[in-house]
Amino acid sequence: MLNDKRILLLIGGGIAAYKCLDLVRRLKERGARVRAVMTRAAGQFVTPLSVGAITGERVFTDLFDLTAEHDIGHIRLSREADLVVVAPATADLLAKMAHGIADDLATTALLATDKPVLVAPAMNPRMWAHPATRRNVAQLRADGIAMVGPNAGAMAERDEFGEGRMAEPMEILAAIEAHFGAADTALLKGRRILVTSGPTHEPIDPVRYIANRSSGKQGHAIAAAARAAGAEVILVSGPAEAADPRGVKVIHVETAQEMMAAVEESLPVDAAVFAAAVADWRVADAAGQKIKKGDGGAPPLTLVENPDILAAIARHRTLRPRLVVGFAAETQDVVAHARDKRLRKGCDWIVANDVSPETGIMGGDANTVHLVTAAGVEDWPSASKAEVARHLVARMAADLAGETR
Ligand code: C5P
Repeated sequence: MLNDKRILLLIGGGIAAYKCLDLVRRLKERGARVRAVMTRAAGQFVTPLSVGAITGERVFTDLFDLTAEHDIGHIRLSREADLVVVAPATADLLAKMAHGIADDLATTALLATDKPVLVAPAMNPRMWAHPATRRNVAQLRADGIAMVGPNAGAMAERDEFGEGRMAEPMEILAAIEAHFGAADTALLKGRRILVTSGPTHEPIDPVRYIANRSSGKQGHAIAAAARAAGAEVILVSGPAEAADPRGVKVIHVETAQEMMAAVEESLPVDAAVFAAAVADWRVADAAGQKIKKGDGGAPPLTLVENPDILAAIARHRTLRPRLVVGFAAETQDVVAHARDKRLRKGCDWIVANDVSPETGIMGGDANTVHLVTAAGVEDWPSASKAEVARHLVARMAADLAGETR
């Protein structure tokens, strides 16, 4: 049930807009309150009259509707919601969202909102496959926007077939319900959760460093999901691509040694998730000045081992968190290595993934993981990094509540 959940539905201009009538009806049946904003183009596909008849509320259509601005205003409109749903999210709407363009009521409400946003993309398969749309979708995912669909199937245009159909109303509804289930802010209320994320940079000299390809997307998504579940979250982040999640205390570090110090200072916590790809080695004596190319040939670099943060915290004598989760990025025998790593590092769980280049996981938006616990190995279905994060956070909450181990 969605009793009294307030949904702000932004209807974009696509043929799938008609499906929104069914979506609204189903949401209302479940007790949700739905307020709709239609873009100008949406009016070509459904009328404000029919949308208003089903929501039972006035429908908002224009940024410069002075009466509406007086009554409620776009800021309130975007704040007086528990979830913002964009359906159908056209290529144009996704592009505007990704770039923060606000040139009508729907896009202004999107830019003004501090509420979670779920989008249901719908467009022609070629538009969905276009590099510009791929970039925008990746950006929106990185920004923490949830997506449902699109599905593969026949398109409105004759002879067109492919990925781009809007998810069915029942699927959008399930995503909305899952959102409220997963983002139950009581889930981790009162818990303090530490997450490490991103790569580390180990200096060779003031301008050069050793690094790895970690983007920080998975770790940042875990921090965001833990926050959405009501936890107090500390994210210790190396130089990551992913943006700082909202509402999370972020400590930015460069090197493994700095990460270790920031982690130790953040204890005690209830649970810690070590998602960072910490460099195993650093240069023994990083040069104070830029090393010059000279006659002596290439400079020899002596490497020394970095502290193992996960192992150190998992074996902490006084402040070991109740639940310690490590990650294992492997390119072969993923599960076998992960089982071994769990024991070697002394952590409770290992989230294992295959990061061979052909999987596209490193730096990508999707992940296929196996959860290795004392009880065994679970193979999780492939999902977005945000979904993997929600799933993991829900499991952590259950564990901290004493439901599983
Ligand atoms: O040994 P390996 O690097 O494969 O182990 C991966 C796990 O250990 C990850 O959870 C990673 O965050 C953590 N780790 C760490 N400090 C290191 C090396 C790895 O916390 N120096």
